[in-house]
Amino acid sequence: MFLTHLTCSRCGLKHDWAILQNLCQKCKSPLLATYNLDEAARAIPRSSLRSRTERSLWRYQDLLPLPSVSEPVTLGEGGTPLLRMDRLGERFGLENLYVKDESVNPTQSFKARGMAVAVSMAKHLGATKLAVPSAGNAGGALAAYAARAGLAAFVFMPRDTPPANVIECEQLGADVTLIDGLITDCGAEIARRKEAEGWFEMSTLKEPYRIEGKKTLGYELAEGLHWQLPDVIIYPTGGGTGLIGMWKAFEEMQALGWIDAKRPRMFSVQATGCAPIVKAFADEQPAAEEFENAHTVASGLRVPKAIGDFLMLKILRQSGGGAVAVDDAKMIEATREVGSLEGLFVAPEGAACFAALRQLQSQISPSDRIVVFNTGAGVKYLDLFE
Ligand SMILES: Cc1ncc(COP(=O)(O)O)c(C=O)c1O
Ligand SMILES: [Zn+2]
Repeated sequence: MFLTHLTCSRCGLKHDWAILQNLCQKCKSPLLATYNLDEAARAIPRSSLRSRTERSLWRYQDLLPLPSVSEPVTLGEGGTPLLRMDRLGERFGLENLYVKDESVNPTQSFKARGMAVAVSMAKHLGATKLAVPSAGNAGGALAAYAARAGLAAFVFMPRDTPPANVIECEQLGADVTLIDGLITDCGAEIARRKEAEGWFEMSTLKEPYRIEGKKTLGYELAEGLHWQLPDVIIYPTGGGTGLIGMWKAFEEMQALGWIDAKRPRMFSVQATGCAPIVKAFADEQPAAEEFENAHTVASGLRVPKAIGDFLMLKILRQSGGGAVAVDDAKMIEATREVGSLEGLFVAPEGAACFAALRQLQSQISPSDRIVVFNTGAGVKYLDLFE
């Protein structure tokens, strides 16, 4: 195990990883896991991965925070396919279009990655009651991993969350509360009650280990592309944990000597009805303001304010990428286009990224190697297609 401590992403203050905690004690910013990568580089040459037979994200367990004395809480998350999309690529005039299909994860979304690692750590560190505000998929993932771990899950979701997410949480044994409001209101309700109830809060980036699960997207991408990162990554952004996690993985892999300094241009995709990052990027702001009257059918993108906004914006700029907003109608259109041409029934958040390809045409070239993330499954959003 190479984890040494947690580092505040804003002020750099060190924290003990072995204490159950949320944000930086001094400035209330996200805490990030820090590893002794010099030692890890000596212990884990890239070639040693070839003999590993584990296909799930625990393939990279020595670069994850869970001590080896503790058994991971797992449902087989990660190890998802990276598929070429030649028919859709031809339609868009792109020669090297790929999708990382996260809909095949347990609970049908990439949220499984973060929750597998975060629930494993919460259990290891002694938590018994886990609470999360969710746009839908994170709640389902927490419910599943908490059940698997024998812990209690408390999920707070907006009342108009897709029914599939609500039913899923209930059937996985979670205590579900529906709130008249947005994910930010759900978070506020947890903050008000958590101390009295004895809940440990699992909000993304307010808890240090969900991002560690999400960063395995970056490790898998690099290994799947034989250690040559793509030219462009297109990622649907709510809280932004996947984007920040992948960037962290790239930095770690460079320190390990597994990849060089070349980075993909990172593009964040949001919905026109909720685009705080797109607005802040265009206005050249270091952080985003809360987006008023947030609305979109892509429930995972209905995040009006994200605690990691300053980290996302830094990465988008540093990578030479950008941020783009897509209309709901275009997402629905793209769902059928991707489905009928490539056989994947994508979530509207994933569909938004495909729709974004058209809007990004001036910023990508036909020969670029482009990876689009389909973060969830269309079957969870059937009410959009009635
Ligand atoms: C299917 C789907 N895609 C994307 C997102 C946004 O992910 P992130 O919070 O990592 O930006 C969510 C979040 O709920 C989601 O459910
Ligand atoms: Zn701090």
